[in-house]
Amino acid sequence: MMGCISAIKSIFVATSTINQKKRSPATFTPRNKPEPRHDLSQAPEYNRLHNRTEQLATLKQWILEENSRIITLTGLSGIGKTALARQLVEHVEDKFDRILWRSHRKLPNLNALQSHIIEFLAPPQPSQNPSIVNYLNSRNSLLDHLRNHRCLIILDDFQETLTPGELVGNYRPEYQNYGQLINEIGQHTHHSCLLLLTWEHPLEIATLETENFYCKTLPVLGLGKLATEILSARKLKDQKKWSELIEIYSANPLWLNIIASTILDLFNGSVQEYLSYPTLYLGDLEPILKQHYQRLCESEKILLQWLATQDQPVKISQKPPLLSDADFLKAIQSLKRRSLVEKTSGFTLQPAIKQYVKNLIS
Ligand SMILES: Nc1ncnc2c1ncn2[C@@H]1O[C@H](COP(=O)(O)OP(=O)(O)O)[C@@H](O)[C@H]1O
Ligand SMILES: [Mg+2]
Repeated sequence: MMGCISAIKSIFVATSTINQKKRSPATFTPRNKPEPRHDLSQAPEYNRLHNRTEQLATLKQWILEENSRIITLTGLSGIGKTALARQLVEHVEDKFDRILWRSHRKLPNLNALQSHIIEFLAPPQPSQNPSIVNYLNSRNSLLDHLRNHRCLIILDDFQETLTPGELVGNYRPEYQNYGQLINEIGQHTHHSCLLLLTWEHPLEIATLETENFYCKTLPVLGLGKLATEILSARKLKDQKKWSELIEIYSANPLWLNIIASTILDLFNGSVQEYLSYPTLYLGDLEPILKQHYQRLCESEKILLQWLATQDQPVKISQKPPLLSDADFLKAIQSLKRRSLVEKTSGFTLQPAIKQYVKNLIS
């Protein structure tokens, strides 16, 4: 027994010495390039994606040229975060020793996530004693593993770690220490990259990227002109009205696909008829928008309902009568971090969200 413990200790001391050496950026020289190992089993497959050339180029620059440690893709559901990340992986996969794609919809808590990642990054070798491997893995932090190999870890649906019904950014109890882990990954030297896909901008990331060159956020925008190809593929009619439809649905590819089905079902594919109907019918988009709405706290709901009644962009000096100054500022900042409010000449709602909220209060 004593012999076994001292064997474990001596292996641990040797390993930690190696790890300490790797902490300095100057000494990051992979001696023998390891066999690449990629697990994309949880990454969805897509057919016929339109290339988001500019956003892909930006992401490649951040990852390959600037060694970004944490990149966050934000945007409402359906805008194309997962699809963009999937395309990105194809462009950068040969530059990483390890690639792991996991969804937060399938992971119960932070401990499970960490052990899962570590197990993937450093699985036991057939020749190794499992008790020694477990001992070493528990002592070596995730950060050590990110230093030992160049890893790309994609965590999808990160908003699932945040508490609904509160202002944005508070972790659920089972993800309490996530902020600390993110800070560690963002602040320490390594050549790996964590890619977070989320509806809501985590607070640590907002703070990290103001002071840290290695942490970046890319708001994923609508498809722009490429959105017409979605309507064309769905064989909708009245091409001259397509730009109006695209604007209403913010060129969101999922939303446009859903509404295209409604237009085909009820209006024989006529965009003109759909748009001239007295109220804007959201069809199967309602349950999707409801998921976003249900995550809001009371002050955000009050503010969103008030914003939906405003015809012009709202200045920061204006506020709804039912909220105090402090609650108004907190709520508007939180809605912005959830991509539910946009800031141009003032604060506005996307037309489809405005309509959803109007339906709720009418
Ligand atoms: N670049 C694209 N070209 C064409 N369709 C797209 C593109 N990006 C997304 N889509 C469509 O929109 C749907 C939603 O995209 P997804 O990436 O899953 O959104 P998100 O992850 O932001 O919720 C996809 O299933 C796909 O049909
Ligand atoms: Mg997604």
